[in-house]
Amino acid sequence: MKVAVTGGAGFIGSHLADALVSEGHEVYVIDNLVTGKQENVNEKAIFMKRDIHHDLSNELEGMDCVFHLAANPDVKSSATDPMGCFEENVSGTLMLLESCRKADVKRIVFASTSTVYGEAKVFPTPESHPCAPISNYGASKLAGEAFVSSYCATYGMKGTSMRFANIYGERSTHGVMYDFYHKLMHDSKRMEILGDGRQEKSYLHVSDCVSGIMAAWKKQDAQYDVFNVGSHEKVLVSEIAALMCRILGLTPELNYTGTPRGWAGDSRLMLLDCAKLKALGWKAGLGFENGVRRYIQGLK
Ligand SMILES: NC(=O)c1ccc[n+]([C@@H]2O[C@H](COP(=O)([O-])OP(=O)(O)OC[C@H]3O[C@@H](n4cnc5c(N)ncnc54)[C@H](O)[C@@H]3O)[C@@H](O)[C@H]2O)c1
Repeated sequence: MKVAVTGGAGFIGSHLADALVSEGHEVYVIDNLVTGKQENVNEKAIFMKRDIHHDLSNELEGMDCVFHLAANPDVKSSATDPMGCFEENVSGTLMLLESCRKADVKRIVFASTSTVYGEAKVFPTPESHPCAPISNYGASKLAGEAFVSSYCATYGMKGTSMRFANIYGERSTHGVMYDFYHKLMHDSKRMEILGDGRQEKSYLHVSDCVSGIMAAWKKQDAQYDVFNVGSHEKVLVSEIAALMCRILGLTPELNYTGTPRGWAGDSRLMLLDCAKLKALGWKAGLGFENGVRRYIQGLK
C-alpha cells in the first residue's frame, strides 16, 4: 500500500514508518523537522519536508492511508502557549484533513492521547469514559479527534483515533525518562524530580505502540473508532527514578519539588483499559523493566 506518515521524522512516527517499510509498504514521510530529525527517517521511505498547515493535496494524491502524528506533543508548553498548541494540533489537524479530503484519501489514523480523559474516575479507563481534559494539549487532541470523526461521517473516510499512554523508547526527545537520564548525565550526585513522586501512570514501549497502531489500522470494522494503547502496569514516578538509577549504577540524592502534580495539566493517575485493542489481537510484548533497559541502552 501507499501510505504517508506525518511527523515521520519524530519519535513515534519514525518507528511507525520503519514498521510500515518492513512490511513492504510504499512509505512517504511528511515532516517540517521542527523537532524531528531527518536521520530518523527510514532510508527506504520517501522524505518530504513539508508543513501540515500547507495544502498537501498533491503530495497525498493516491495514498491508501495517512497516519497523522505531526503535532506539538508538549503538555507543559500548552499551558504557557495555548494559542500555539491550538495552531499546531487543532488547526494543523484540520488543514491536514482538508488536504486528505481534496486528495480523496479514504483512510486516516490519528495520534491522540490519554490526556483527553483528564482526571478519570474509573481505572483502568475505557474509551467510553467521559473526556474532560485538564491540559490545553489534551483539549487540542480531543478537538483533533472530533474533526477526524466529523470528516469520516461527512466525507466517507474511515478514521481511527489512537489514545496513547506515555510512550517511551529509542529516539524519544521528551518525557520523564528522557528528562531523568539527561539530568543524571549532567549531575550524577543529585536529581530534582517534578512533583511528589506519587504520580502513577502507565508507560508503553514504542514498539508496542506501533504494533497497536498497525492492529487498529488493519482490523478496525467501524467507519470511525477510538482505541486506547497502553500497558496494564502502572508505575510511580519515584519507581522510575529508582529503576533508572539502578540500571545506570548511580545513587543520587533525589529531591522532589513536592507538589501533587509535576506541572500544570499533569494527571496524577493514568491507566488505560486496552481490552478493545486486545480484542483485535494486539498485546504488548515488552515489560516495563526490559523496555527501560532497552531505552537507556539507546540513549547511551
Ligand atoms: N510520546 C508520547 O508519549 C505521546 C503520548 C500521547 C500522544 N502522542 C502523540 O503522538 C504523536 C507523536 O509524538 P512524538 O512523541 O513522536 O513527538 P515528536 O515531537 O517526536 O514528533 C512529532 C513530529 O511532528 C513534526 N511536526 C510538528 N509540527 C509539524 C508541522 N506543523 N508540520 C509537519 N511536521 C510537524 C515534528 O518535526 C516531529 O518530527 C503526536 O501527535 C503526539 O501528540 C505522543
